[in-house]
Order: sequence, then C-alpha cells, then structure tokens
Amino acid sequence: MAPIFLCFLLFLLPTPNTATQDFCVGDLTAPDTPSGYPCKKVSAVTVDDFVFSGLGVPGNTSNLIKAAVTPAFVSTFPGVNGLGISAARIDIAPDGVVPLHTHPGGSELLVVLEGCIYAGFISTANDVYTQSLGPGDAMLFPQGLLHFQINSGDTAAVAIASFSSPAPGLQITAFALFANSLPSPLVEKVTFLDDDEVKKLKAVLGGSG
Ligand SMILES: *[C@@H]1O[C@H](CO)[C@@H](O)[C@H](O)[C@H]1NC(C)=O
Repeated sequence: MAPIFLCFLLFLLPTPNTATQDFCVGDLTAPDTPSGYPCKKVSAVTVDDFVFSGLGVPGNTSNLIKAAVTPAFVSTFPGVNGLGISAARIDIAPDGVVPLHTHPGGSELLVVLEGCIYAGFISTANDVYTQSLGPGDAMLFPQGLLHFQINSGDTAAVAIASFSSPAPGLQITAFALFANSLPSPLVEKVTFLDDDEVKKLKAVLGGSG
C-alpha cells in the first residue's frame, strides 16, 4: 500500500526539468540581480553574445599601478550569464602590481602567457601562499581571499584569468581603504594607521574626508 501511495505522490510532483534551456544570454537592458540578468529572447541571441574579442588587446598600463585588467565579465560578455564562468586579461608593466584585492563572487585561475609574475594569496587563517610564475604556469586564488600579482621580471607580463562566476567582482583593498569618503579619523581608528599615512594615501588614491 505504502509504496503505491508514494509512487502516486511522485507522479504528482513536478518532474525536474533537466533540459529547460541551453543558455540564458543576459538581457543587459534589464537590471542585474543576485542570480544574474534575465534571459534575452532566444530569437534575439546571436553568436556575438558568445564571443569576446578584447583579450588580444593589451590594456593601458600608464597608471599608478602600472597594470590593467580587461574584464570579460557578464556586463560586456552577456553569453556567460548564468553559466558560472568568465575571464579577464591582465597586463602588468615592469615594476607594476595588481595590488591586494578580492573577487567576492568567484575563484580565479590565473594562467601566465608572457613574462614573470610573483603572485600570492592570504587565507582567512592568515597563512600566505606565494609563488613565482612564468609562461604556462597557472595559479588558483580561492573565492573571496585577498591576493596580488607583481611583475617580477623586466619585461611586460601578460596573463589570462578565468573566474568561477560571470560577475566575480573586484575590490582593491588600498582603494577601498583610502579612495573613499570616510573621515580620516575613522580610517585611522579602523586601520591602526597614523594621520600622516592616511592623509598621504588618500591624496595618492583620491580619497576625501
Ligand atoms: C593610456 O592612459 C594614459 C593615462 O590615462 C593616457 O594618457 C594615454 O593616452 C593612454 N594610452 C593609450 C594608448 O590609450
């Protein structure tokens, strides 16, 4: 009796649909949400939604950090919407650095194509994992952990990063701390840094307050 009843119940439940749709290209005219963009109508999808051509173009490294990140995230590459994947190109000039930063939304797999990169991350136990990387080396930076990349050679370094999210996000720690409008006394209180240092860094990075 019981198995028959159970069988009947299962019959009533909606069957899990394993083949709902092949993709959900992001409709970038709609607002982004925690679960991504709504899907563009399939009739409006073209191959261009699945192709991003910017990763062959060197980023402009004439800036404070002498580095550039060219993201192929969902906002410029709508085909990745909902698929848990995206990419970026990283250019680091000699003496350049991608300063300590996090990607709140995804893990990163960095593959070095040219030059030498010294990279590392810091775990929540404050253990440090660093390595010198050359062409063909890949290093993983687990989701949310602070990490950095430094050009450790005397030629331009180029890497491609893949992310486990269509929108991994990027927050550079020094900018978060010193390019904001928090009053300096508050920044000093929460960082243990002195007034001179905080004001110097705010001036360099564009903070106010
Ligand atoms: C690179 O950026 C600098 C600083 O913003 C700018 O002056 C320069 O024209 C840019 N170079 C190219 C090739 O876009």
